[in-house]
Amino acid sequence: MSKDIQSASTLSNDPEERFENPGLPPHTPRKNESKPGLKKLDSAIVTGVFSLSALASLAAVVLYFVLPDYSTLGNIRLGNLVLGLGLAIGFGGIGFAAVYWAKALMNDEEMVEERHTSRTSPEERAEAMEIMRQGVADSGVARRPFITAALGGALALVPLPFLVPLVANLGEEDGWDISKLKHTMWARGKRLMTDGPHDMSRPIKMDDVTIGSVFHVIPEGLNDLSHEEGYADEKAKAVVLVIRLDEKDLKQPENSLDGIVAFSKICTHVGCPVALYEQQTHHLLCPCHQSTFDVSDGAKVVFGPAKRPLPQLPITVDEEGYLIAEGDFPEPVGPSYWERKK
Ligand code: FES
Repeated sequence: MSKDIQSASTLSNDPEERFENPGLPPHTPRKNESKPGLKKLDSAIVTGVFSLSALASLAAVVLYFVLPDYSTLGNIRLGNLVLGLGLAIGFGGIGFAAVYWAKALMNDEEMVEERHTSRTSPEERAEAMEIMRQGVADSGVARRPFITAALGGALALVPLPFLVPLVANLGEEDGWDISKLKHTMWARGKRLMTDGPHDMSRPIKMDDVTIGSVFHVIPEGLNDLSHEEGYADEKAKAVVLVIRLDEKDLKQPENSLDGIVAFSKICTHVGCPVALYEQQTHHLLCPCHQSTFDVSDGAKVVFGPAKRPLPQLPITVDEEGYLIAEGDFPEPVGPSYWERKK
């Protein structure tokens, strides 16, 4: 047996005998421990930042209601911008002040916690409670009522910018009025127009739609609204894809107009425009999360996270041979929302 192996085999298994405990490095006091004025300043900073957080949350909510709906900064609605800033300063302030409080004012004495068996003795539990009591005392929660009050205020107010738009706008005329989601501009007799600017959009004749062709379609009259508020919303709901298949490829040819079908272009997952059509498979693909709809089978979902088929626009042809709608979509277009029945 070699000398090294011999000496290793005679070493004790007790770590305390094998290694010298280096102990803790000497405690370095913080600057503010010797300067009470500095400690007061730190305390004021923490109180101030908690208060700033509370004020920012309140100010965001007030400004959200005070600023007119149409006031914008670039493309951003000012009301939404102040809510975002309120949230950023509210949460950021709480985070900054909490860290600063811990670093500048709470006890920073190093401690060693020895490992022990998981079941502690009553004495150890009593000691733990004492340590917790000491921690509460060290944090100054009881001795610093202003900081505690400011923290309480900041925590209580910081969710407001989240909740206000949810609560204030639900069901309101110009807010998240869900009745707007249930209807589109389509109505009986409206012609199907090619999508494009006013002077380029034209009505589509049934004969123009050859087998395999795809048209991006908007309702007649939509472009007349192009300078009005709400135009983009109306267009986003009403866009349609018109596709013609060979009737023998359709599973329900009776639901088509000689093989022509018109489906909402708004994905039923989260509303991206579905626009990739594979002519060979008759599949419509949503580029966002790859939901795939089978046009030959009522635009049913064959792949991806969407849960419902694309709503089908009922269409017919007028006496001049142009495609027209028979009415609005029979169900809301686009993704789910709480009140949606189907
Ligand atoms: S929005 Fe179409 S798959 Fe997600």
